Amino acid sequence: MPQTPIDMDRLFEPVELGALKLRNHIVMSPMTRSRAGSGDAPTDLHAEYYGQRASAGLIVTEGSQPSPAGKGYCRMPGIYSPEQMSGWRKVADAVHREGGLVVAQIMHCGRIASRLNKDDDSEIVAPSAVRANAKIFTDTAGLVDIDEPRALSTEEVSDVVDEYRRAALNAREAGLDGVELHASSGYLPMQFLSSNTNLRTDRYGGGAANRIRFVIEVLEAMGGAIGFDRVGLRICPGLDYNDIHDADPAETYGLLLDEASRLGLAYLHLVHRAFPDFDNLDLVKTHWTGKLILNNELTPESAAAALAAGDADAVSFGRAFIGNPDLVARIRNGIELAGYDRSRVYTPGPEGYTDYPNAPTGQ
Ligand SMILES: Cc1cc2nc3c(=O)[nH]c(=O)nc-3n(C[C@H](O)[C@H](O)[C@H](O)COP(=O)(O)O)c2cc1C
Repeated sequence: MPQTPIDMDRLFEPVELGALKLRNHIVMSPMTRSRAGSGDAPTDLHAEYYGQRASAGLIVTEGSQPSPAGKGYCRMPGIYSPEQMSGWRKVADAVHREGGLVVAQIMHCGRIASRLNKDDDSEIVAPSAVRANAKIFTDTAGLVDIDEPRALSTEEVSDVVDEYRRAALNAREAGLDGVELHASSGYLPMQFLSSNTNLRTDRYGGGAANRIRFVIEVLEAMGGAIGFDRVGLRICPGLDYNDIHDADPAETYGLLLDEASRLGLAYLHLVHRAFPDFDNLDLVKTHWTGKLILNNELTPESAAAALAAGDADAVSFGRAFIGNPDLVARIRNGIELAGYDRSRVYTPGPEGYTDYPNAPTGQ
């Protein structure tokens, strides 16, 4: 039977995600690139990097910590100090100058951290004092075991929620278009959600209704501060990265998505995984009523097919944006995508960061 050709045009049409009016359906997925400067501030290099990629309908920045305690990896940028905010303002200006949109991904690493990557007086905190059985890279000692975190008291959880609220306000004050809550990959929000990392006996632990509370409170705090239609949520139900495990992700995330659907968020950003026993996109289709950005190992064709099938409202690409700053034009013009230098993904400086060229015009 002859195959129906995929409608690629949809990728290049505008789409609205809450208050975010994207000029096309192609989103740049958040990617940690470990280039922050002194004081964990974004630099001119960040502005150049994101400006080069501004033809995306929306850029989600690399994960950025809302407080010193939120930092886990070396050279991660923060979004809590005036110096960091002036760095983000340069990023916002560079992307807006090119007609793009950019939201900050707010990423609190929680227990996924080494003391060697943090300021001396900054703690490693988590829902419970459960050490991750994993290693982390440090500039001073290479790969090291992750440290054991200290469990947050109930009162301190409210303080962390407030850090997220301030991060959202800071993002807007710096001129960014909104924020995305990083609740995937085994970091703090996922540590609250998951049964192996959340052993709490207060209102943030126990059954699923309690384990989702932290994420809902953070979303409410950020949405209350800057408008829910400028707040996105990123999840990957069922993921076990960073030694995370939930006994019943269908129950936990079903409840989370039911509650989050009521908030009127700009979008849900799903890292799609089909596990042998459950496909997290099926779960999202059942429980999420808002707009959906679909991610993970998409090709231009599979992305267009997902849009055509109604499986997504927008699609995001991560790695393809590293070596293809003009990814949108390349897809539109059918130009072969370039690869990228894996050895330079997390190294400081412009090499492997801002030195990938656009495709020659006229191809
Ligand atoms: C170098 C690198 C850094 C990443 N950093 C983040 C991050 O900070 N926050 C996040 O949510 N996901 C992060 N991811 C995951 C990507 O956003 C994306 O989900 C993943 O690369 C799959 O999409 P792709 O197949 O289009 O690359 C990172 C991925 C890569 C390759």
